[in-house]
Amino acid sequence: MTTAQPELYRGLMGVHIDTSSISSIKGDQGELVYRGYDINELANKATFEEVAYLLWNDDLPTQAQLDAFKAKLAPLFEIPAPVIEMLKSLPHDIHPMHALRTAVSMLGALDPKAEDVSIEGIQEDAYSMLAKFPTIVAAFSRIRQGLEPVAPDSSLSIAANFLYMRTGEKPTEAATNVMDVALVLHAEHGCNASTFTARSAASSLTDSYGAITAAVASLKGPLHGGANTAVMQALEGIGSVEAVEQYVLDTLGQKGGRVMGFGHRVYTVLDPRAVILRKVSKALSEESGEGKWFEMSLEMERVMDIEMEKKGRAVKPNVDFFSASVYRMLGFPADTYTPIFAVARISGWMAHLLEQYADNRIMRPRLVYEGEFGKTFTPIEERA
Ligand code: SDX
Repeated sequence: MTTAQPELYRGLMGVHIDTSSISSIKGDQGELVYRGYDINELANKATFEEVAYLLWNDDLPTQAQLDAFKAKLAPLFEIPAPVIEMLKSLPHDIHPMHALRTAVSMLGALDPKAEDVSIEGIQEDAYSMLAKFPTIVAAFSRIRQGLEPVAPDSSLSIAANFLYMRTGEKPTEAATNVMDVALVLHAEHGCNASTFTARSAASSLTDSYGAITAAVASLKGPLHGGANTAVMQALEGIGSVEAVEQYVLDTLGQKGGRVMGFGHRVYTVLDPRAVILRKVSKALSEESGEGKWFEMSLEMERVMDIEMEKKGRAVKPNVDFFSASVYRMLGFPADTYTPIFAVARISGWMAHLLEQYADNRIMRPRLVYEGEFGKTFTPIEERA
């Protein structure tokens, strides 16, 4: 009698691993909600600090609560000198996500309270990493240009400080607003690959720095947060609006070919974040006169719509697609887009870690063994 083959859920497709109150995604409706608030409301009306507070608490902050939240963050923007020295020791041409991942791991090594996984301990870690991520990313972007890091200005918002620490110039209000919207849109998205990685690592009750180090590693991948960089690299390689269609056809013609910035495990309609970022990209292209990237993105979207219709596939632009042209027009090099994603997503990751540590069960899925049984052990000297 053969034993029944357990059902497999490769890629954990459709698997719900726990309950959560942080966000809801209705993929067939293109709806994203953070703790009850629609993403369109938050993107247009809330700052990133308000959203980070919302993700870690039950509701948006009052002015007094927001002031206290910012006051707690302000002294934490600085990163330890040994981390700066480590960043300076890295090769300048490495992917900046290696630098961020290594710095996060080092923050854990330097934090004497890293092993404290009580809710209070995790809250402390959350403030620290939310404040330090932009400083780390900005510092390495300067170091690899042969420039000294710019110390954070704790009077600035996270978005403004990040832009300031990259250039040493106080950013315009317009650029700060665009960055703030981008951070809000990238802050949280349920049990995506990097958030699942963080929750899975934390489920052994290891420290949060280790769990976030793992999450940074996962986000780097081109199928996940690395897609925004891959989109811009594709657009730069294509070079013109006229060449977009052939690029898409060639890519789709390859076995397993994927056009970066399109498709999603949950959304079967346009990602609501892409709807907002498309508008931001359009506005920036009109203001900057650098309309090429937006025009190429629209052409890629047009061709993909036609080709996916033919295939009967619901493959639409995701958050990474239009963020690429937005970041390009803000002056960011393509390989810094994913670290920017991490500067936002640390807020969502820590919200999930607060949930995981508060009501934990170690994650331990199974694999169906397809190997042999009953082999006889042969001493090495007798093995052919
Ligand atoms: C993010 O999960 C999240 O929430 C992630 C995220 C977040 O905020 O955390 O939203 C951020 O990671 C967005 C996704 C960024 N990744 C990319 O843009 C990479 C390109 N996209 C694909 O690799 C893919 O769509 C994934 C990885 C996003 C989803 O993978 P799935 O769910 O395993 O889907 P699949 O690869 O099995 O594709 C299903 C079908 C296939 O058709 P068939 O081969 O069965 O005929 O849809 C097609 C695919 O061919 N398809 C694509 C496509 N994505 C899916 N075809 C062409 N180009 C694509 N991009």
